[in-house]
Amino acid sequence: MVAMEQPLLRIALLFLFLHFSILVNSFPSQHLQIINAERRIDLNSHIIKVYLTLKVENSGTTPASEVHLAFSPAEAEHLAVLKAAATTGKRKKKTYVPLDVKSAEIPDGPNGSKFFPVTLLTPLSKGETTTLEVLYILTHSLEPFPVEISQSESQLVYFRDSAILLSPYHVKQQTTFIKTPTARVESFTVVEPTKRAGTELKYGPYDEQTPYSYSPVLVHFENNNPFAVVEELEREIEISHWGSLQITERYKLVHAGARHKGVFSRVEYQTRSGASGVASFKHLLAKLPPRVHSVYYRDEIGNISSSHLRTDFLKSELEFEPRYPLFGGWKSTFLLGYGLPLQDFLFESPDGRRYLNFTYGCPLAQTVVDKLIIKVVLPEGSKDPAAVIPFQVDQHLETKYSYLDIVGRTVVVLEKRNVVPEHNIPFQVYYNFNPIFMLAEPLMLASVFFLLFAASVTYLHMDLSIRKS
Ligand SMILES: *[C@@H]1O[C@H](CO)[C@@H](O)[C@H](O)[C@H]1NC(C)=O
Ligand SMILES: *[C@@H]1O[C@H](CO)[C@@H](O)[C@H](O)[C@H]1NC(C)=O
Ligand SMILES: *[C@@H]1O[C@H](CO)[C@@H](O)[C@H](O)[C@H]1NC(C)=O
Repeated sequence: MVAMEQPLLRIALLFLFLHFSILVNSFPSQHLQIINAERRIDLNSHIIKVYLTLKVENSGTTPASEVHLAFSPAEAEHLAVLKAAATTGKRKKKTYVPLDVKSAEIPDGPNGSKFFPVTLLTPLSKGETTTLEVLYILTHSLEPFPVEISQSESQLVYFRDSAILLSPYHVKQQTTFIKTPTARVESFTVVEPTKRAGTELKYGPYDEQTPYSYSPVLVHFENNNPFAVVEELEREIEISHWGSLQITERYKLVHAGARHKGVFSRVEYQTRSGASGVASFKHLLAKLPPRVHSVYYRDEIGNISSSHLRTDFLKSELEFEPRYPLFGGWKSTFLLGYGLPLQDFLFESPDGRRYLNFTYGCPLAQTVVDKLIIKVVLPEGSKDPAAVIPFQVDQHLETKYSYLDIVGRTVVVLEKRNVVPEHNIPFQVYYNFNPIFMLAEPLMLASVFFLLFAASVTYLHMDLSIRKS
């Protein structure tokens, strides 16, 4: 009996130990402390950028390999980008080494705070310090107040945060700077010492804050920058081995700022253009690759010709206007299409596979995309597609049938929520392709012609024989 139980007991103990060690590894270490934290919050557009510098010290005895960043539940929900880098070297010769940041599968901290562990290049030993540079981007985090404004009014918004950095560690000293677009700040919470000068608000320095300290602040300020949000964007990238890449983009754009109140006066808008509709926007700017051609821009009504395209060696810029200016809550649905030379984007990898190297994200400047769907339509006969993207996206495959297709084309579908301009980085789709398939379409055409020819010959022949009889 005892002999039977012992192995079981041992296994149980082992499980207990494993479970315990996982918890110990992933939960914020009690032995780290932040010597100095500096936070710079940029509220210039509706896409909020926060630059955080942390000087971390290991005051314990065991080496630490992770530093945990903490966010409130609201922040975690609106987090579009979170990047960390380690700085090495002195002031002038600083280099930044990107670090791995995970969204942790560990229990939340006090008051629902979410942890994101940053893995250090080398574990921090007892008494050592390291400096981390963190960038995080938040979307949908400015709340218009008043909720509705008329055509002549300026847009005011609320921003909520904590004067004290939310952290699982003891923070010895810290300061937060908040930058507003204009000097018009209606109100702000004071947490002594708090100072305001022009477009900058300074919270702190605060000394010796215990872990998970939090001190809510509310800043009410003017922000008339375009709150351009694409609720859904579908970009279809069609590869044709006959020399071109055809891009079709379907936009559902909305002005996500304070709702427009009252009637829209085009006369007032046009005559007092400086003062009227300050919170609205009219011009859209799309950054497209160089050598773009056959650009068209269309909405539900038809083609719109009011667009200007500037191109140079590095980029193309398309400036265009919807039919009417967009005020808060107004929407515009449109389609943008263009062609690109295939040789700029399609390459062969050393292992003989072909790959598309294209830019992820949305071509519209300063825009948040709530849902981005990228569809890469591969040539007919392509096999084993594999997408390489530097961040987490949902992937699946579809089949598309178009003109003259026999087996259909494989479509690689990539979906992501909460996309910001920082996501405009290259991604690749690799696939195998048998060049014999390039002959499929011409062969199809040829055989159709041949069949027609054969049919007409037969018909003529039959016709003749009938007449003879
Ligand atoms: C949790 O939130 C409550 C209410 O907002 C606050 O009073 C308390 O200090 C918070 N606790 C921690 C550990 O942050
Ligand atoms: C719109 O533009 C496309 C592409 O340039 C063209 O093929 C189409 O005929 C145009 N439609 C109208 C209604 O002008
Ligand atoms: C993709 O293109 C970018 C420039 O547009 C280049 O820096 C990068 O090396 C390319 N990636 C691959 C795998 O070819």
